[in-house]
Amino acid sequence: MKHLLKLLDLSSEEIVSILDLADQLKYEKKNNIPHRLLEGKSLGMIFQKSSTRTRVSFETGMYQLGGQALFLSSRDLQIGRGEPVQDTARVLSRYLDGIMIRTFAQKEVEDLAEYGSIPIINGLTDFCHPCQVLADLMTIREKYASLDGIQLTYIGDGNNMANSLIVGGLKTGMKVHIACPEGYQPDPTVLEFAKGNPNFMLTTDPMEAAANADVVYTDTWASMGQEAEKEARAKAFQGYQVNDTLMAAAHEGAMVQHCLPAYRGQEITDEVFEAHADELFEEAENRLHAQKAVMVKLMGGEQ
Ligand code: CP
Ligand code: NVA
Repeated sequence: MKHLLKLLDLSSEEIVSILDLADQLKYEKKNNIPHRLLEGKSLGMIFQKSSTRTRVSFETGMYQLGGQALFLSSRDLQIGRGEPVQDTARVLSRYLDGIMIRTFAQKEVEDLAEYGSIPIINGLTDFCHPCQVLADLMTIREKYASLDGIQLTYIGDGNNMANSLIVGGLKTGMKVHIACPEGYQPDPTVLEFAKGNPNFMLTTDPMEAAANADVVYTDTWASMGQEAEKEARAKAFQGYQVNDTLMAAAHEGAMVQHCLPAYRGQEITDEVFEAHADELFEEAENRLHAQKAVMVKLMGGEQ
């Protein structure tokens, strides 16, 4: 594993080994056991979109590992004034030990990896959000001890989260049921990956997808970059809200997960959100541990 560009690139074993290391690093953090596995290393963090969790968890995670992280806003970088990704990649490879990038096009992340010579970590693109899904899988495994046969139901937009949950879930033996309105389905390459897998279901009916769910997942109806479509999307996603009626179709005691930020009254009700706040914020915390594991695997301190 040289980069984390998308979960499609990882084997099931690689995903599980990241989760195992994440569990260990979480244990060490909670018990004040030093784990300075990236002493003296530097991570550049390029952001072309907003972030709360990704920025703070990567920055503090790198600090806890003994390294440092540099916040690089595309507004300030020359990339924002047209310097090619190819040149940026080759320059930054000479200073840094790894780059985390959050941007629009998946191609930009793949190009950084192609032209640079250091590990590249995808911190969200329009196509996928692998770091988030590693944290999600970690959180689900903490509750159910194993991912095998656990049913994850995703309700809403077939966006970057849906794409990554399908791949990460199916690769780790989960059942993945997706309910999206017509016209808002996951990426065709992901549907191609899932095609024929008996653990996969794609429907337009949220109640059908939610039946017997162990985990109910949702995300915003309008992702970053889709602000102009907000109203049209709010209409298209009527009936795709995670609320008490939908939760009644899931298994009793089912988890609720959301990558956050959450928009109450839209994709999720305040009641469902607050009833599941503990597991939602555990999921957010696990970004830290999962990403530390990714950085350790990619940036040299492998255990
Ligand atoms: N879930 C997530 O990636 O959050 P941020 O946008 O705050 O980083
Ligand atoms: N789908 C959302 C996820 C945010 C973490 C977005 O891309 O904006």
